[in-house]
Amino acid sequence: MSSPIKTYCIIGDPVQHSLSPLMQNAAFSALGIKSSYISFRVPSRDLKTSIASLKSIGIAGFNVTIPHKISIIQYLDELDNTASISNAVNTVKNDGGKLVGYNTDIYGFIQPLYKRNIDFKGRKVLIIGAGGAAYAIVTALSYEEGIAETIVVNRSSHNASKLVQHALKLGLNTHKEEFGNLSKLASQSDLIINSTSIGLNNERSPIERDYINPNSIVYDIVYKPIETDLLRKAKEVNARVVYGYEMLIAQGAQAFEIWTGCEAPIIAMKKALFGIFGEPK
Ligand SMILES: NC(=O)c1ccc[n+]([C@@H]2O[C@H](COP(=O)([O-])OP(=O)(O)OC[C@H]3O[C@@H](n4cnc5c(N)ncnc54)[C@H](OP(=O)(O)O)[C@@H]3O)[C@@H](O)[C@H]2O)c1
Repeated sequence: MSSPIKTYCIIGDPVQHSLSPLMQNAAFSALGIKSSYISFRVPSRDLKTSIASLKSIGIAGFNVTIPHKISIIQYLDELDNTASISNAVNTVKNDGGKLVGYNTDIYGFIQPLYKRNIDFKGRKVLIIGAGGAAYAIVTALSYEEGIAETIVVNRSSHNASKLVQHALKLGLNTHKEEFGNLSKLASQSDLIINSTSIGLNNERSPIERDYINPNSIVYDIVYKPIETDLLRKAKEVNARVVYGYEMLIAQGAQAFEIWTGCEAPIIAMKKALFGIFGEPK
């Protein structure tokens, strides 16, 4: 008897921008795994009932995106170490009826920086945003030796404070600054990370070009459009850039491995995203 087809999904609001269905279905197909992956828009008010419904239909696993990465924790049965340390979940596996939360954004975020052999010692890091993804980012940075300081700037000062408290507990030298000081702070930073949703709707960069230091690295975790206005401006001043799609692929590969136990077919996943033209330079 052949094994039943497993179903996976991503939940979020908005979720229509997500490239995870394209990437994960390509991965299943490349390895001949009979599974499918779809997206569900789940508004915050429906999160609890939606999780219960996914559990009752025997969903094999799912990803979690904006704005549920923190609020979902209360509805899960167990947390893996990555999720409990970061206090955020982006991947859930149904383990014999138990929903277990993981965080693959930690690995997904740091992987593109490792690929570039970035030395973190003495670096000043600026994180814009304090949502679910930012919790994974501070967790990843807390494992790096010698970062001089990490500054959090966020629209809501209250959310910035909560993230700073979390980062301090992880041993990261962190404090918050006002959103209005963003440009000045950017000009003094070695690594600038946008972890807000700014850019997702082609919004203007929160930092003007003249405030981007050409010696800095600018990392925008927004992956659609591939080149946000922030990255475009960073490239104009010859700063090094890290694309959000690099994190997307790395976090998705680790999620695939958690669900299937198989090594993720990265080439097939990239091909699904970029077609025959390959990765942007
Ligand atoms: N490349 C990847 O693999 C990857 C992985 C994870 C996330 N992401 C992307 O990262 C972004 C954030 O995801 P998340 O899960 O952290 O979302 P989230 O938990 O909903 O947090 C959103 C963050 O963006 C801020 N924000 C939203 N709209 C804003 C605006 N108009 N002006 C200023 N700040 C604004 C929020 O500030 P407040 O606290 O003030 O509300 C908060 O800090 C999304 O675009 C998501 O697609 C990409």
